[in-house]
Amino acid sequence: MRKLMVTGGAGFIGSNFVRYMLEKYPDYSIVVYDKLTYAGRLENLQDVAARFAGRYKFVRGDICDMELVDQTVQREGVDTIINFAAETHVDRSLMDPGAFIQTDVYGTFVLLEAAKKFKLERYHQIGTDEVYGQVLKSRSQEQDNLEPRSPYSASKAGGDLMALAYYESWGLPVTVTRGSNNVGPYQYPEKVVPLFATNALDNEPLPVYGDGLQMRDYQYVIDHCEGIDLVLHQGELGEVYNVGTGAEMTNLEMTQIVLETLGKPESLIQHVADRAGHDRRYALDVSKLRALGWESHHSCAEAIIKTVRWYAENEWWWRPIKGGELYQEYYQEQYGKRLAS
Ligand code: NAD
Ligand code: DAU
Repeated sequence: MRKLMVTGGAGFIGSNFVRYMLEKYPDYSIVVYDKLTYAGRLENLQDVAARFAGRYKFVRGDICDMELVDQTVQREGVDTIINFAAETHVDRSLMDPGAFIQTDVYGTFVLLEAAKKFKLERYHQIGTDEVYGQVLKSRSQEQDNLEPRSPYSASKAGGDLMALAYYESWGLPVTVTRGSNNVGPYQYPEKVVPLFATNALDNEPLPVYGDGLQMRDYQYVIDHCEGIDLVLHQGELGEVYNVGTGAEMTNLEMTQIVLETLGKPESLIQHVADRAGHDRRYALDVSKLRALGWESHHSCAEAIIKTVRWYAENEWWWRPIKGGELYQEYYQEQYGKRLAS
C-alpha cells in the first residue's frame, strides 16, 4: 500500500485524512479524486498542495464516471482506493434523494469495479453509524441488522453492502468502517456544530430541531482518521469496524457547549420544526476497533470545544461559504419557514 486514491478527499473528513496520512507515512503518495460539489473545496487542501508537492496530486472527477476512474487508477498506478466521496447531508437527502443514490450507491459500484479490474491491494469504504438506524437502547455492533431510515443512510447502506458483496463474490480485499458524527476543521457549515458555531459568532439563532433531545456521538475527525488508518493496516478483510467515542450527548447539551465556548447567551437557541424521520439516537459499540489497539483521544465535549475554537479563529474559511449565493439559497429553503414560524 503506497499509492492511495482518496475519493472525496477535498471534503471535510477526506481532507483531514489526506493531511494525516501524508504526515504519518513519508513513503506514501496520494491522488485525491473529487468532483468538487458544493461540499468539496480546494481550500481544504491548500496547505497540503504546498507541503507535499510530489506526493500529492489532485484530479477533478466524478466517481460515477467509469472511464475517468479507470484511467486515473491506471495512469497513477493506484494500489488502494479509500472512498470518502458521497452526498453526506441528511437534510439535503430529504430534498433531493436522487443525487444520493447516484453517488453513494452507483459511484461506489464504479470504484469497486475499478478495484476488481485492476486487482488493487485494498478497497476501503467509509461508512456511517446511521445505517443501523436509530438505536433507542444499547449500542450498535457491526453484525447488527441495517435499518436505515433516511435516503442518505439508505444510500450509504447500499454502498456498504455492495462493497461487502464484492468481498464475498470475488474475494476483493475490502474493509469498511462506520463512523459516528465527526467534528473538526473544514466541515461545511450545514452540519450542526459548524452551523451553530458560525451562527452564534454572528449572533444569529441556533435552530434546534424538535425538542433537541436526540443523541449523537461527536468524535474528533483525527480520532476517526486514526481508526481508518488502523483498519487499513491491521483490519481483517471482509470485516466492518465501528469508529466513535462510544458515548453520546443530546443536541441541547452540544448546543450549550457551543454557546459556552463562545460566551454567547442561551437566548440564541430557537426550537424549530423537526427533521422528517429524525433518528432519535445513534450509539456505537467500538470494542472491535479497541481490540486492535485504537482509542479515541477526545471526548464529545473536547471535540466540540476544539472545533468551535477553530471556527472562531478561521473566519477566512467559512465566511465566503456562508456569504455565497448557493449557501444562502439552501439556508432559506431549509430554515426560512422554520425560523419565521
Ligand atoms: P463532505 O460532504 O464534507 O465531503 C464529501 C466529498 O465528496 C466532497 O469533497 C465532494 O466534492 C465529494 N463528492 C461528492 N460527490 C462526488 C462524486 N460523485 N464524485 C467525486 N467526489 C464527490 O463529507 P464528509 O463529512 O467529509 O464525509 C466523508 C465520508 O464520510 C462520506 O462517505 C460520509 O458518508 C462519511 N461519514 C461522515 C461522517 C460525518 O460526521 N461527517 C460520519 C461518518 C461517515
Ligand atoms: O452519524 C454520522 C452522520 O453524522 C454522518 O454519516 C453524516 O454524513 C453527518 O451529516 C452526520 O449526520 P447527522 O444527521 O447526525 O448530522 P447533522 O449535523 O445534520 O445533525 C446532528 C444533529 O443535530 C441531528 O440530531 C439533527 C440536529 N440538527 C441539525 C441541524 C443541521 C439540529 O437540531 N438543527 C440543525 O440545524
